This record gives sequence, C-alpha cells and structure tokens, in this order.
Amino acid sequence: MSANIEQNVAILGLGYVGCVSAACFAHIGHRVTGIDKDEFKVRSVLEGRAPFYEPGLEEMVKSGVAAGRLGATTSVEEGVHDADVALICVGTPSEKNGNLGLGQLRKVVEEIAATLSSRTKPLVVAVRSTVFPGTCEEVVMPALGDHPMVRVVSNPEFLREGAAMKDFMEPSLVVVGGHDAQAVARVASIYAPLNVPPCLVSLRTAEMIKYACNAFHAVKVAFANEIGALAARLGVDGHEVMETLCKDDKLNTSAAYLKPGFAFGGSCLPKDLRALTYRALRMDLKLPLLESTLPSNEWQLQRAVHAVLDLPPGARPGIFGLAFKENTDDLRESPVVNLVEQLIGKGRELRIYDPHIQLDAIYGANKSFVLSAIPHIGRLMDRALEDMLAWSTHIVVAQKPSREIHAVLAAQGKPIIDLVGAFPGQPA
Ligand SMILES: NC(=O)c1ccc[n+]([C@@H]2O[C@H](COP(=O)([O-])OP(=O)(O)OC[C@H]3O[C@@H](n4cnc5c(N)ncnc54)[C@H](O)[C@@H]3O)[C@@H](O)[C@H]2O)c1
Repeated sequence: MSANIEQNVAILGLGYVGCVSAACFAHIGHRVTGIDKDEFKVRSVLEGRAPFYEPGLEEMVKSGVAAGRLGATTSVEEGVHDADVALICVGTPSEKNGNLGLGQLRKVVEEIAATLSSRTKPLVVAVRSTVFPGTCEEVVMPALGDHPMVRVVSNPEFLREGAAMKDFMEPSLVVVGGHDAQAVARVASIYAPLNVPPCLVSLRTAEMIKYACNAFHAVKVAFANEIGALAARLGVDGHEVMETLCKDDKLNTSAAYLKPGFAFGGSCLPKDLRALTYRALRMDLKLPLLESTLPSNEWQLQRAVHAVLDLPPGARPGIFGLAFKENTDDLRESPVVNLVEQLIGKGRELRIYDPHIQLDAIYGANKSFVLSAIPHIGRLMDRALEDMLAWSTHIVVAQKPSREIHAVLAAQGKPIIDLVGAFPGQPA
C-alpha cells in the first residue's frame, strides 16, 4: 500500500463528523463518496446542500460536488467499491446505563464485510467514531473476518460543532493508530495537505486519546467554573484570576503535571486544597471537583499499596525514595511515608533508601511528621543504595531517580514496581 496524495475516500455516516470530513477531504483534493442510510442526507449532498447547519459547510459541499470530487450514496457496496480508505463516522450514542452504544458501528462494519468477498483492492478501514479502547480489535476486526486485503486503524476526530470546518482544516491534533505501519501511513497521508504532523501511535492509544481529551476538556471547564464560583463568593474577579493563571505557561497551561505517576504530597498542595474546600464548605458552596481531588489522590496511593501487597509471600520490597519528590529531604505529607506506614501496618518487611535523607540531619516539622507515622523509621533506612538493593527481592520506585541511580536500578535485575513512570514498560 503506497501513499498517494489523492485518494479515494469513502465516508460512512454523513452526520456532523462524516459530512464535515467528506466536504473537507474533497476540498483538499481527494475523491470522496459519502454513505448514509438516511436518504435525506444523501440527497442533500448530491444537490450541493449541507444536511444540517454548520458554518461554511454548505459552500464546501456545493463546491466539492460541482468539482466532481464529492458524491454520496445510500449503498455501502457502491460507496466502498473503489475506496482506498473507508472512514467510519457513524454515531456511538450513550445507552441508558451510560455504556457506549455500538449498534450503528456493528451494523456498518457488517455491511462493509458483506462487500469484501470479491475484493481484490486493498482497503484501510479507519474508525473515526469515538469508541472505547479495544473496540477495533474486539468488534471491528473480527467482523471483517481478517480479510487479507483489509486493515483496520483508529483515527479519532477532534472537531467541535460550530467551528467544525476550521477545526478540520486547522486541526489541533491528527492521530492515527494501528498494528500495520503501512495502513497507518496511508490514513495519515490523506491529511498531508493540511501540513500538520500526525501522531502515529498504538491502536489502543488512538482509541483512548479521544476519551482522555474530552475528559480533560470537561475537567478544565469544571475547574474554571469552580474557581469562578469561589471567587464570586469571595468578592474576587474570577475572570481576572483565571486569566492570570493562564499567563503561567510553564506550570499551568503546559505539559507540567500531566504525566501519570504517583500521588502528590508535600507541604503545599494537600494543605491548600484542604483550606480552599473547607472555606467553600463554610460558605455552603459545593465544589465537587476540588473536593474530590484529595480522595482521588488517596486512591492513587491505595493502588500503590495494593501493588506492593500483591507481591508473592516472602517478597522483600526495597523502596527507592521517601521524600514527597526528588531533590528534597522534605517528608511532610509525603505519600511515600503513607505508603510505608500502610505496608508496615499490614506486616510487610521493607527497607528504604532516599539519596537526600539523612535521618540525623532532619529536624522540626519534617522529623515529627515521619516519626509520628513510622516511629522506628531509623531501622528501615539504608544509608547506601547498594545495601537496599542487596536486601530486596523487588524494587519499588517511589521517586524519580537521578540519571546515575536510574542506570543502577535498570541494571540490578530485580523486578521493579514503578510508581513514577521512570521505567516505561514496567508495571505501576
Ligand atoms: N459531533 C461532534 O462534535 C463529534 C466530534 C468528535 C467525534 N464525534 C464522534 O463521531 C461519531 C459521529 O458523531 P456525529 O455527531 O457525526 O453523529 P451523527 O449521529 O450526527 O451522525 C451519524 C450518522 O451515521 C449514519 N449511520 C448510522 N448507521 C449507518 C449505517 N449503517 N450506514 C450508513 N450510515 C449510517 C446516521 O444516519 C447519521 O447520519 C460519534 O462517535 C461521536 O462521538 C463527534
């Protein structure tokens, strides 16, 4: 499958995503056939009209049809026959219980499968509808019957209704994921005229990314609204607060803090969240997102506790890192101290090494915090990494290691429980 610039693209489903994609792919030079079981939508496109209102769509449908690059049909057989790429854009609405409804997807995949018996031309089926990770492997591929000419990839859509044409032509993200590199490259190539470097990822990452993006956007909106509501109660201008927050593009509107890892801790984040939600509560102001943040953090800690408790009987975990993050000896509200406290409470033997903690050198609130949680901490701490490694059967990485220590941990050969994402591919 070589990647041509101009390709035959079939688009299954002419709803918001499908119709916008059809018009835009035709506009950037592909030959597009839109397929929908809804005769009204097909007729609209054939007559050069948009089947629903979306700014700029009607003009682009009209020009695509006039140029002979955009057609439409109700027949899957006819629409997919000459296609190099078939983009599935059918609806995936919620079921009553909130589960994702795959009825339209299953049906349209069955209809594609029914066209394949005589197929001799390669076809990449790209799932553009939002589907849960695993859907391509568990639903789409089996229904297509592992046809030798057919490959399946995931190519999620990120456009927003109301700005859909602009979002398509100037995409914030183009993602393609799949097992077959050539099929992935072919689908990526249909976006080449947009001059946006595509993110080529694994199949399940492509399926998951759309959920991660939408959840992130929803959390952002809820966060801004809760800060706005609290500000209003306090007589503060919430717009000014959030605009100022957004001026920090190092820590706030950036990739900072956006990597899966261990629970947060330290002397500021838990204390300030507690103070903020307590003050809101006193004013009878509900801030469920902010109120749920410390419980969410506690669950992250519990997952780490269980990962260590699940080690085989007789395992001797060595914990790397005790402070709440790297390059500090601050133990106040360190989640690792909580982790150790809970493991000891369950009768686990363990040892700890932290390159920045000399127990005889720490004092004040720092010392009293750790001593109240783990009174005999002194007996658990090794002064040298080598001592901890020699005693342990498993290493729990609870803090980002320096480059030198990373190399030692990577080479020591014992299983690692990586709580901080320092060893990609290791269990967390
Ligand atoms: N609307 C958005 O803003 C948006 C943005 C990104 C992703 N998505 C996702 O994209 C997918 C499509 O969303 P939408 O809003 O375009 O849905 P929609 O309901 O507007 O359109 C779906 C279309 O698919 C057609 N269809 C269903 N089964 C068919 C079949 N067997 N053969 C031919 N046509 C068939 C329907 O008639 C309908 O026209 C969903 O998974 C959605 O979550 C939507």
